[in-house]
Amino acid sequence: MPRPPSAHAVVGCGRVAPNHVDAFRALDGWTVAWACDRDPATAAAFASEYGIPRVTGTIDDVLADPDVVSVSIVVDHAQHAGLVERALRAGKHVLVEKPLALSVEEGERLLRIAEECGRVLSVVSQHRYDPLVVGLSDWLSAGLLGRLLYVRSVLEASRDESYYKDSYWRGTWEGEGGSALINQGYHCLDVTRAVCGELTVVSAMARAGELFGTMRTEDTLCALLAAGPVPVSFAVTVGSTVTWRTRLEFVGTAGTVELDLDHPGKLHRAWGNPELERRAAALDPAAEEAPPGTDYYGISHRRQAADFTAAIASGKQMAADARSGLAMVRLITGLYDAAGLPRVPAAGGA
Ligand SMILES: NC(=O)c1ccc[n+]([C@@H]2O[C@H](COP(=O)([O-])OP(=O)(O)OC[C@H]3O[C@@H](n4cnc5c(N)ncnc54)[C@H](O)[C@@H]3O)[C@@H](O)[C@H]2O)c1
Repeated sequence: MPRPPSAHAVVGCGRVAPNHVDAFRALDGWTVAWACDRDPATAAAFASEYGIPRVTGTIDDVLADPDVVSVSIVVDHAQHAGLVERALRAGKHVLVEKPLALSVEEGERLLRIAEECGRVLSVVSQHRYDPLVVGLSDWLSAGLLGRLLYVRSVLEASRDESYYKDSYWRGTWEGEGGSALINQGYHCLDVTRAVCGELTVVSAMARAGELFGTMRTEDTLCALLAAGPVPVSFAVTVGSTVTWRTRLEFVGTAGTVELDLDHPGKLHRAWGNPELERRAAALDPAAEEAPPGTDYYGISHRRQAADFTAAIASGKQMAADARSGLAMVRLITGLYDAAGLPRVPAAGGA
């Protein structure tokens, strides 16, 4: 008899939840069994749209189901740590949207719990799996850029007033734990770190509490970081007029690569030596299948889900594991500290 498919559950049925359904549906031997949202109408509408058989308003039902092997936690940042802990302790493997947690202490605790429970914990970093990003890492390791001189990593985005005003968590330190950096800028920084290695903060400057009157958190942050001896400049804003534009530039003594993470990813320049140019020409990100939902979330949720389920099956090391998610929490915390942003609202304050 064929084995029944392994059951996955999606907790939080908002903007990025369709990418999780699509990612697990694309896998052989897996099914999405539960749609869970604390707003029952949202859960029901989502389940109906995506044909998910079981619906609930509480994670308790999901965690009590012995058939559920793994869960996606896809809710506001402030609840990540609590829901991840509950899911791990219930024996489920967990794929949590970025960031892992709002503080380094919470993140460290989750890593300990995952280890104690013997469960896979992974933080979504889908762009690490983009073919262009994987290609760039290979070209750097093969010495095709020579000695890296500097890196520039930029996200220019626009968000309108309703994006913050109509959300119960965005634009607040309590719910989002920051904005432009921890939410939108996360990916550029994460990919830069994945490609260049550990980053340290040299200096940072941010602007907060200025956009739309309702947003308390930062709309813009610029920083200078270091990847060992290599200077890395980073900038993110959500206040521009451009919907979404990423740009990552790696300049070395033997070659330069400039790419974006906008779906399906584009290589703007790869030049400097014939081997780099030959390998770059062999990559065709435009051949990528269109993703569901918001296009710039990219198609690589599927690749990360495949890596996640392989880790469940074989214990293999993931490209985006909990340890790299924790390193991102450390880096983000360091950037907010360097920018002088009070991540916890002042007592009795706004
Ligand atoms: N990787 C990416 O490219 C990407 C893109 C967008 C969002 N995200 C991340 O995904 C997460 C969710 O973002 P979003 O834009 O989908 O948010 P959203 O506000 O659109 O959706 C969140 C949903 O979670 C539900 N919810 C809240 N608490 C819950 C609980 N305790 N149990 C069940 N449901 C609950 C809400 O009712 C809401 O429907 C965030 O961490 C965000 O940073 C990642």
